[in-house]
Amino acid sequence: MLELRSLSCRYGAVQAVSEANLRVDAGEIVTLIGANGAGKSTTLKAIAGLVRPEFGDILFEGTSIARMPAHQIAAAGISLVPEGRAIFANLSVLENLEMGGYLRKPAEIRSGLEHVFALFPRLQERLQQNSGTLSGGEQQMLAIGRALMAKPRLLLLDEPSLGIAPLLVKAIYAGIDAINREGVTVLVVEQNAHLALKHSRRAYVLETGRIVMEGPSAELANEPRVKEAYLGEG
Ligand SMILES: Nc1ncnc2c1ncn2[C@@H]1O[C@H](COP(=O)(O)OP(=O)(O)OP(=O)(O)O)[C@@H](O)[C@H]1O
Ligand SMILES: [Mg+2]
Repeated sequence: MLELRSLSCRYGAVQAVSEANLRVDAGEIVTLIGANGAGKSTTLKAIAGLVRPEFGDILFEGTSIARMPAHQIAAAGISLVPEGRAIFANLSVLENLEMGGYLRKPAEIRSGLEHVFALFPRLQERLQQNSGTLSGGEQQMLAIGRALMAKPRLLLLDEPSLGIAPLLVKAIYAGIDAINREGVTVLVVEQNAHLALKHSRRAYVLETGRIVMEGPSAELANEPRVKEAYLGEG
C-alpha cells in the first residue's frame, strides 16, 4: 500500500532522513521506532506531504505522492495524527471532529461521529467541552478521532503514547487495534518500543535518519541490539 524508496529529507544542513526504504502492506500495523531526533516525525511528515523529500520516492497504492500537495494526499486516503496532537484547543470536541470530516457529506459525518464514539466513548461524554481542557490522553483520542473523520485507508500516528497516563495509553492502543481490525492500515511511530512492538506486525528501527533493522515485531523484540538500546534490557 505504501512504499518509501530511498527517501531522503533534509532541513538546511541537517540530514534528517537518509535513503530510507520502508513498506507497509494493506491491513498491517507497522511501527517505526527510534530515539529522539532519529527522523521519525520527518518520515511521517514527508508521507503526508508536509515536508518535501530531497531525494527518493513515496508510492501510495502504486502512485507517486512525493510531490503532491498535502490536501491532495489527504484526499487520496492518508491521515496524519501529528506529534503533540495539534487539536484546536479553542474549539469543542464536536467542532474538532467536524473539522476532520470537512471533505465529507453530512451523512458521512454523522456515521463518522458514531464510529469515533464507539471507539472512544470518553469523547462522546465530552462533546461540548472545550478541547484545551481535555486531559492529554483525551486529546490524543480526539486527534485520532479527528483523523478518522476523513475516513483514511492509511493512518499515520506520531507517538500516540507520549506523555500520557498508562491507563489512557491502554485505551488509545485498544482503539488503534480496533481501527486496524476494521480495515485501516496503520503506520505508527513510537519512542516507546515496548508498546510499539507489542501492537504491530512488523517494525523498522531508525537511527540518525537511517533504517538499521527491520523485521517481524516479535523477532525484533528478541534482538540483543533492540533489547539493549530500546527495551532497556540486557
Ligand atoms: N523544521 C526543522 N528545521 C530544522 N531541523 C529540523 C526540523 N525538524 C526536525 N529537524 C531536525 O531533523 C532531525 C530529525 O527530527 P525528527 O523530528 O524527524 O525526529 P524524531 O525521530 O521525530 O524525534 P522525536 O522522537 O524527538 O520526536 C533532528 O535532528 C531535528 O533537529
Ligand atoms: Mg518526532
